[in-house]
Amino acid sequence: MKIITVVGARPQFIKAAPVSKSLRKNYDEVLIHTGQHYDDNMSKIFFEELSIPMPDYNLHIGSGGHGKMTGEMLSKLEEIYIKEKPDCVLVYGDTNSTLAGALAASKLLIPVIHVEAGLRSFNKAMPEEQNRILTDNLSKLLLVPTEDALKNLSNEGIKAGVHNIGDVMYDAVLMFKEKAESKENLLVELGCEKGEYILTTIHRAENTNDIKRLANIIQALNECGEKIILPLHPRTKKFTLDYGLKFNDNIKIIEPIGYLEMLMLEANSKKIVTDSGGVQKEAYFMGKPCVTMRDETEWVETVEVGWNVVVGTDKDKILNAIKNFNPTHKQPSIFGDGFASDKISALIKEIL
Ligand code: UD1
Ligand code: UDP
Repeated sequence: MKIITVVGARPQFIKAAPVSKSLRKNYDEVLIHTGQHYDDNMSKIFFEELSIPMPDYNLHIGSGGHGKMTGEMLSKLEEIYIKEKPDCVLVYGDTNSTLAGALAASKLLIPVIHVEAGLRSFNKAMPEEQNRILTDNLSKLLLVPTEDALKNLSNEGIKAGVHNIGDVMYDAVLMFKEKAESKENLLVELGCEKGEYILTTIHRAENTNDIKRLANIIQALNECGEKIILPLHPRTKKFTLDYGLKFNDNIKIIEPIGYLEMLMLEANSKKIVTDSGGVQKEAYFMGKPCVTMRDETEWVETVEVGWNVVVGTDKDKILNAIKNFNPTHKQPSIFGDGFASDKISALIKEIL
């Protein structure tokens, strides 16, 4: 059986690390990189560090408007699908690469497998929410990471082909956590002590495209009185420069880093402040309190169990959470058992 996997953005490379390993034990996998992310530190570093098989195709789509990116991917993917004749196409998450991968396959009547199906923010202004809903509706096998995702699909009348397999990002953390310890010299380089800094990421469109929201976030970080490490997403770098926003000296701005460095920084942080989907989950896996600078989250379980707080971009709310949100209680297991990738492999055999 031949499976085409489509990836394009940073978190998808990380998800592909454990999943491709499992798939290749049983199937022929053809890996397509759309080129949505293309800087070495947003793409190449992950393939090298995590031993992800090199892509068989790179579409070199690059940056642009949503329609342009998605449309160009769609036409190039269609050509490859027709040539490669896969038995199914696997996509991850909620990016433009996800939607293009699923839509091109669905139009050719090739079964679509959606990993990380069923997540909802219930905010259709987010490009990711549009991509998720559409991809779920095109998919034959919907692999959800949590019980809430299962309920979301059921509420929309999507019941066939839905399976809760747990979260593939948990597989990735278990796979690479130990190796990540070898990256501790980064802390020395940054002059930071274990347990004495906050790790932050910012990249959501709604937080970067809007000067007020981004200015509030940066003001809160500037005034919080904590040492902060901030690997800066290229999108956020561009907008802070465009808007003329300045970071104070308590914030160590670094280029985007590899996954191993990132896991090491998460594991040694005292708290994580982010608007990333993946980083909210990793905060949970690492047992770190998470402050989420968004108006809603798809990872509602982390909030319900008291380890994540959603504060939006109000400066005082961010400052209050940085100071006072300090859960210490036991964490229930909400993201599966760390064998999601093997379950994907087994389900494909059983169902397709
Ligand atoms: C995309 C996904 C988002 C995901 C994120 C992961 C969509 C709609 N959004 O957002 O869901 O959370 O990836 O990081 O698919 N850029 C570079 N170099 C790169 C990549 C991007 O400079 O290698 C800059 C460009 O200015 C580009 C901007 O970042 O215009 C945004 O990139 P894009 O891929 O469109 O969206 P992300 O914000 O990265
Ligand atoms: N990440 C990384 N280097 C960084 C920032 C993030 O390796 O400089 C990893 C992070 O550990 C997580 C994933 O990228 O596994 C999250 O991706 P991102 O925040 O870009 O997207 P999202 O998860 O919000 O879609």
